[in-house]
Amino acid sequence: MISILKVAVGCDHGGLEHKDAIVKHLRERNIEVLDFGIYEAVSVDYPKIAVKVANSIVAGEAELGILVCGTGIGMSLAANKINGIRAAACSEHFSAKYTRLHNNSNILCLGGRVIGVGTAIELVDLFLDTEFEGGRHQRRVDMITELENKKEG
Ligand code: RB5
Repeated sequence: MISILKVAVGCDHGGLEHKDAIVKHLRERNIEVLDFGIYEAVSVDYPKIAVKVANSIVAGEAELGILVCGTGIGMSLAANKINGIRAAACSEHFSAKYTRLHNNSNILCLGGRVIGVGTAIELVDLFLDTEFEGGRHQRRVDMITELENKKEG
């Protein structure tokens, strides 16, 4: 098991219950949490939250991130627009583990309308406790970074 020190977390109105449960769980694990909201049930545009969590990771303020929206998909699409971010929308254990092992993903995106809170917490633990394997997977992740660096604007 690796020891993650700081995790950035955010959600929209589709993921508030899950996000709050994840924040509580992480604090119980003595992991420092940067909670970018939302903090109450108000409708919010998920890209605004995704970019806050993504920027905190790129800036080195947190090592990994968790984003929750209704499906996990909108958050992942938005976060992946930020250079240096590899965000994966997962709803089962195998993907949550392998996106760390093989993709070195740095944000896990979850769907509050797709999975229950208990599963979400299990996926978060799996994601945080799995280390990137490197080796041939590093070459592939580097290829993604190259694509990113070719982007205009
Ligand atoms: C908000 O209604 C919903 O669209 C959002 O939470 C998310 O599921 C988008 O991908």
